[in-house]
Amino acid sequence: MQQEDFTCQSLSHFPNTGAVAWQSPSNIALVKYWGKKPVQLPANASISFTLSNCYTSTKLSFTKSDTRRVQVFVDGQEKPSFLKKIETFFERIETYCPYVNNYAFKIETENTFPHSSGIASSASGFSALALCVLSIERKINELSDVDFYKKASFLSRLGSGSACRSVYGPMGVWGAHEHYEGSSNDFAVPYSDVHEVFKNYQDTILLVDKGQKKVSSTLGHDLMIDHPFAKNRFEQARNHMFDLQKIIKDGNILAFNRLVEKEALTLHAMMMTSDPYFMLFKPNTLKIIHMVWEKREADKIPFTITLDAGANVHLLYPAEYKQVALQFIQDELIAYCQNEQYICDEVGKGPLLKMEQYA
Ligand code: PMV
Repeated sequence: MQQEDFTCQSLSHFPNTGAVAWQSPSNIALVKYWGKKPVQLPANASISFTLSNCYTSTKLSFTKSDTRRVQVFVDGQEKPSFLKKIETFFERIETYCPYVNNYAFKIETENTFPHSSGIASSASGFSALALCVLSIERKINELSDVDFYKKASFLSRLGSGSACRSVYGPMGVWGAHEHYEGSSNDFAVPYSDVHEVFKNYQDTILLVDKGQKKVSSTLGHDLMIDHPFAKNRFEQARNHMFDLQKIIKDGNILAFNRLVEKEALTLHAMMMTSDPYFMLFKPNTLKIIHMVWEKREADKIPFTITLDAGANVHLLYPAEYKQVALQFIQDELIAYCQNEQYICDEVGKGPLLKMEQYA
């Protein structure tokens, strides 16, 4: 499917009214995407675990209208402040989905986790919305499952880059890379050459700071344009993508640990060395990282830490260590989590269609 193949040619026989609902998960990148070109094209390829319990549920109700109108409700409350981002999304997708100009939309959405907390709510949010929009098109335009998810990923990307990976479980790859067949900058592809141990890998997210981020990822991505270390970083990510492929296939937890932690720390090192520089780590982020490393050393538990663009720490480990990990969190780490909060998640299977009705 080329870029132009994503355009829906027909405007007739669309339903007059209806509603569709999807549940779509967040994801946690192992090789990070940081730096982009217009519009929403990645400077390097990335790969992520799709999560299971951190998801957005979105219901999109629609009625024919002369012009596009949009209302957004988050947790039952109307949120006009979300409209700007959503309007930008609709403007970007209208070339590919011209029918969005002919509806009044009501978007009702809720997350199972706090938004703007460094957990990728934009990833789950935009993928859920893209899946809802595309479901309307599928009603009149026959799309195979492969093409449906490919276009859904393509549309999600135009809302938020990392969202395009959320469309697939257990892992998604976004960005053209010679070692990943079918990979593209335009959309993510599913990745399933995954060793058993990673299929239900655990991700316990230690919520260090649930506040609104001081520096948005959009700004952070832009700061990579003139970043003095950008070229080397993109080269490193390219090599990491290559190395991770074998690690994931072989179930090599030791090598996984070294690569994934290097990625997380490099991401934040890029932030700390951009102009202007900024730092998303909080004192408790560092405290937790050091405590995890000490525990790993002392008790030989294969813990890996990773971070998104935020202060929260994702603690990754094989499912067989779940009890040990939760005990460690309860006994020692919880004191460094905001309001003693953490979220237990694991690698998941991808989005779920919850409901659709058309008239
Ligand atoms: O999708 P965005 O623009 O929110 O960027 C997300 C970037 C990271 O989460 C830091 C890394 C990634 O690949 O998900």
